[in-house]
Amino acid sequence: MHDDLLTRERIRPRRSRVNPAVRRLTAETSVRAADLVLPVFVRENIAEPVPIASLPGVVQHSLHSVRKAAVEAAEAGVAGIMLFGIPDDQRKDDIGSAATDPDGILTAAIRAVIDEVGDGLVVMSDLCLDEFTSHGHCGVLDVAGRVDNDATLLRYAEMAALHAEAGVHMVGLSGMMDNQVSAVRDALDSAGSPDVSILAYAAKYSSALYGPFREAVNSSLQGDRRTYQMDYANAVEARREILSDIAQGADVVMVKPASLYLDIVRQAADLADVPVAAYQVSGEYAMIEAAAQRGWIDRESAIRESLTCIRRAGADIVFTYWAMAAASGPSSHTGR
Ligand code: PBG
Repeated sequence: MHDDLLTRERIRPRRSRVNPAVRRLTAETSVRAADLVLPVFVRENIAEPVPIASLPGVVQHSLHSVRKAAVEAAEAGVAGIMLFGIPDDQRKDDIGSAATDPDGILTAAIRAVIDEVGDGLVVMSDLCLDEFTSHGHCGVLDVAGRVDNDATLLRYAEMAALHAEAGVHMVGLSGMMDNQVSAVRDALDSAGSPDVSILAYAAKYSSALYGPFREAVNSSLQGDRRTYQMDYANAVEARREILSDIAQGADVVMVKPASLYLDIVRQAADLADVPVAAYQVSGEYAMIEAAAQRGWIDRESAIRESLTCIRRAGADIVFTYWAMAAASGPSSHTGR
């Protein structure tokens, strides 16, 4: 009885929450600019940036305006920039030829950004075919119209060599083809680019949260991606994907989306001996922005909470369309 009383008096967790200074001192998790990567869209043949309706505050950049965006990201201390190329619609075909055109939009964007910032931040490219194919799939199709895994790997290998030649630091393999990491590692090594690293979208789920992204890249997807992206019912399968990608030589493994998949992020962090990234995708961004626009949610607090919780779950690196806001705002530390 007496002991219980003493315990009750001595152990008072609220002491660590008593004011902002103490809360900051005792915060276990921080979000720094150096933890963040900014995804950007670069569109062929536009003179001025084009706003994306479903992603308020995000634009399709021109080859010119992306240079400025990269400089600003580097100045803000953001860790990296992930480039997505958007070719003209009439350039899309069955095999995504524009993806391996040396003068294609993505290669041009890599060159422009490297020219502007050099090693000032990690320059990454989306190594996938979906932005370039007329059917919108992440790979090429066989005669039956199914995504052909091994034929797709040959296309990825070509893309990798091209991106490396353009000066990219890290390629992001988002296509979810089996053995894509080893295929691309081999291609980079034999192209004389052993220093280009691989970010593997190891556990990428087929998700409704990619909706706004499809508008952002003018996607022409027919059908869905469920034969290659993971089923959201599965977690054990993510272990297999993550371990396999690490065994194939991935330098960073990614979980995507982030917020609804924090259990997978934690599992990846416990499992991996390489850094773990999580991608806060377009739908996660759009939901908070839309609710904030209606006054239903406090935008700043929701952004900070979402990013901090992704870090708390175990992500070393967070891909977010809010990278610039989070890098400059109070959320560059936990700010509470
Ligand atoms: C595929 C790719 C997608 C995203 C990033 N890379 C779309 C998809 O798999 O359908 C989605 C990113 C987002 O929603 O923010 N190249």
